[in-house]
This record gives sequence, C-alpha cells and structure tokens, in this order.
Amino acid sequence: MKKINYIKYPLPRIRHHANPVLYFPKKQHKGNNFIYPPVYDSLNWEDVYANGMHPDMLDIGCGLGRFLIEISLLNEDKNILGFELRHHAVEWIEKVIAGENLTNVKALWYSAVNGLHFIKTGTIEKVFYFFPDPWVKKKHHKRRAFSAELLGEIHRVMKPDGEFYLMTDVPEVDEFQQETLNDFGKFSYKYISDNEWILPVQTNHEEFCMRKNIPFIRMICRKK
Ligand SMILES: C[S@@+](CC[C@H](N)C(=O)[O-])C[C@H]1O[C@@H](n2cnc3c(N)ncnc32)[C@H](O)[C@@H]1O
Repeated sequence: MKKINYIKYPLPRIRHHANPVLYFPKKQHKGNNFIYPPVYDSLNWEDVYANGMHPDMLDIGCGLGRFLIEISLLNEDKNILGFELRHHAVEWIEKVIAGENLTNVKALWYSAVNGLHFIKTGTIEKVFYFFPDPWVKKKHHKRRAFSAELLGEIHRVMKPDGEFYLMTDVPEVDEFQQETLNDFGKFSYKYISDNEWILPVQTNHEEFCMRKNIPFIRMICRKK
C-alpha cells in the first residue's frame, strides 16, 4: 500500500468546534449573514472521482481524514466520500488528496444534518460514524447529528447487506446512540470487541485513544 508522508502537509490551526449554526440544518436558519457549507441536491460524480461512479463508502464527520485517506488507499477500486463541517480540515485533506494524486477519495465541506439527498438509494456498502463530538451538556444535545432523520437517510442509501460502523469513547454518547437506534428500529446492531473489528486503519481520534489508553466502544449496525 502507498505510504503518505504527512509531514509534507503542515496542519493549519483548526478550532475544536465550528460556528454553532453549522450543527443545524440550513433550512432552520433565517437570513444568510453567516457562512454555511453548500447544501447539495445532486452531485455529478464524474467531477469527483476518476471512474465517474458514485461513492461506495461514507465517512460522516471525517475530521482530519486519516481514516478517510487510508481506507481509500486500501480500496483503490472503491470511491470514498467524507463529510466534514470544519472548512480548514476539509481544505487540508483536499491538499493531501491533490498532492498524492488520489482519485477515489473526496472530503466534502458539508453538514450531514442536511441529509444525503445527493446519494442514490441502495448504493453504499459501508458508512463510518466515528467519535462524533459528544456535546455532553444537555443544552448542547441538539447539536448531535445522530438522529432518526440521519438514520433514515443512512438506511436509505445503504445496500441491503451494507454495514454501518460506529465508535465512541463517551459512554453517554453510546447510550444516546443505542436509544436512537432502538427508537428508529430498522437496524440491528452488535457491539464488537477489539479482535472482531476488521477495519485495518485507524481514525485520528481512535489513534489518540489507543495512545492514551482511553477505552472506547465499537458497534456494527446492519439493515434488519
Ligand atoms: C471528534 S471528531 C472525530 C473525527 C474523526 N471521525 C476521527 O475519528 O478522528 C468529530 C468530527 O465530526 C465533525 N462533525 C460534527 N458534526 C458534523 C456534521 N453535522 N456534519 C459533518 N461533520 C460533523 C466535527 O467537525 C469533527 O471534525
């Protein structure tokens, strides 16, 4: 597998969180005196991927994109799409993608709470949702993207045998996600131990947890 020398791409200063408006769907906001990522109805995949085909895998909240890029290197015949609302992170990932001439991976500056209308029904093999911002204060819970609406969209775009992977190091987030999955009802889910986890590359935050010995929880969901 190709090895990327990330030192060639100095990281910009990236704020921990984005402007709070970005955590809510654009249609909820009045006026336009704020910067908001584009909301797409459709995307022309010929402009995005060398093979002109639709994405096969989604990484929702891809952060600094380590997993996104590494999984694309391991799956050259698949197209990977990451969503991230921090613009500087997306710009940095796109610099790496251009610098390394990677043609099967894209980081989209997009807030996932606006839905996945531009992804065709039943086309996605794997969806990754790793270490979402925990928003532990009750008044911030509504900034969490994990909702019945997003689950409905993920369920719609997934192939019948598709897989939806989750990780978090915040037990309260795991409880919240489990409740949301139970209420949604159309996914079965299974907690996964370290030796059952088959993904061969780590996310930035997963690597951080491993380095600091912070425990985290892994789950795989499938369509019922
Ligand atoms: C804690 S980071 C984890 C990043 C990466 N998945 C990892 O494991 O290293 C969570 C990321 O999700 C992004 N995010 C939060 N809400 C989002 C939304 N509605 N749409 C897209 N990205 C979002 C944040 O900006 C942040 O980069």
